Amino acid sequence: MSETWWRGAAIYQVYLRSFADGNGDGIGDLAGLRSRLSYLADLGADAIWLNPWYPSPMADGGYDVADYRDIEPSFGTLAEAEKFIQEAHAVGIKTIIDIVPNHGSDQQEWFLQALAAGPGSRERARFWFAEGRGDLPPNDWQSIFGGPAWTRVADGQWYLHLFAPEQPDFNWTNPEVVEEFHDVLRFWFERGVDGIRIDSAAVLIKDFDSVEESYTDHDAVHEIYRGWRRIADEYGDRILIGEVWLPDQERFALYLRPDEMHTAFNFDFMARPWAAGELRASIDLTLETHLPIGAPPTWVLSNHDVPRPVTKYGRAVTSFDHGERRDGMPSDLALGERRARAAALLAMALPGSVYVYQGEELGLPEVDDIPGELRQDPIWRRSKHTVPGRDGCRVPLPWSGEEPPFGYSTGEPWLPQPASWKELTAEAQSADPNSMLCLYRTALRIRRAELGDGALRWLEAPSGVLAFTRESGLACVVNFNADPVALPPHEKVLLTSGPLEGDALPSDTAAWIRLSG
Ligand code: GLC
Ligand code: CA
Repeated sequence: MSETWWRGAAIYQVYLRSFADGNGDGIGDLAGLRSRLSYLADLGADAIWLNPWYPSPMADGGYDVADYRDIEPSFGTLAEAEKFIQEAHAVGIKTIIDIVPNHGSDQQEWFLQALAAGPGSRERARFWFAEGRGDLPPNDWQSIFGGPAWTRVADGQWYLHLFAPEQPDFNWTNPEVVEEFHDVLRFWFERGVDGIRIDSAAVLIKDFDSVEESYTDHDAVHEIYRGWRRIADEYGDRILIGEVWLPDQERFALYLRPDEMHTAFNFDFMARPWAAGELRASIDLTLETHLPIGAPPTWVLSNHDVPRPVTKYGRAVTSFDHGERRDGMPSDLALGERRARAAALLAMALPGSVYVYQGEELGLPEVDDIPGELRQDPIWRRSKHTVPGRDGCRVPLPWSGEEPPFGYSTGEPWLPQPASWKELTAEAQSADPNSMLCLYRTALRIRRAELGDGALRWLEAPSGVLAFTRESGLACVVNFNADPVALPPHEKVLLTSGPLEGDALPSDTAAWIRLSG
């Protein structure tokens, strides 16, 4: 693979805890992942991005990191992680890990030291400790997971946590914090990882003088990533990928300047409803903001924080909004699956890199009947059991067999799998050429062989239809209308997300074709 592999890569997101369990304790681990690397190679993954794999009390699924230089014992050991990196490379798969710079765990050494050292200490200056207003917190900021963003400690001071109380925020104006993360980056680059996904990348700098809640996208955050880029560049071909949720695309593009991150997740596309005009607008906006700076766009249909596409696209409202998650809204799963298949062909035909969140290739639906007492997402607790949160897209994968745990484990999975998933196992789908899994495999193979990295050109199309061609000659047509439409004149149909009706493209169906002439 070339030095710029990441510009057009298909990146598979592994939520390790739910991927495959190698030792029967019900929790996915490195042994399980290593044993299934060939599945990912067969699928056509160019790279794997793993959610945090560090020692963690799991107050937020590992995004509460207790030690940035080791591996969570229930996942395996550092030695196994190194073996995994080598084995992935041996089958042609790059590795991307997740670094969480905004906050650590309240069980992390630094935080324990800060508690012990007391007010005014150097140890506390690594976090945001402050005096309250009498019995009130220092200000009224709210946690992104619900409830106040401050928690009081025994000596009366408060500390800031934009997320759960178990996730104290670091003070990024403190050079010790800057140095510490430089060292963490080097630690993992030395061990061969090819890229870093940067968690919550836009919220590291806080403005406490503002009357408003003010922590998103302050200019000073860019200096942090310039420092990270210098380190990545010391190692050559290593990349930085930002998790940057920003409504303003111009502000978003600033993170992708040549001396900052290589790419960032494009959540605009993922958040749009299933509608031709909306998706076209998102594609145009994305291309317009990325092309001038030379950064490749990214296309994401799902991840571990959002509803599964099959469920989302089968609902009466098909957009995604963080503030209004629509958990539990009824869904027509057959319709959702049809659209999710078409959406996959659309995303994979666009210029740039594409992400596949584990289970998306199996067409798994959101699981919305997880019993309350088994739910682990802090959103569930912090919302006082009013918002179910993200566990429904984190249920362990079904690999094989007729009943849970479906080859995922020999023990009891940490979240229960629906019995109906027997039809969705990787084994069952491998045997069915019309399955979602076979669609993903074929699409990723064609994409790698034939898509190329040339520009996109829109083709004339009836209203409700998106049609574009790439310089390589591969064209993609998606029909969002209720009735079939004729395909443009073509030499060959390479792949469709569902059967054609004669030569017409049915509703909610996508086709990859080679145009004639
Ligand atoms: C990111 C992660 C999410 C996590 C949050 C706090 O948004 O994707 O899973 O809860 O950051 O670290
Ligand atoms: Ca395990």
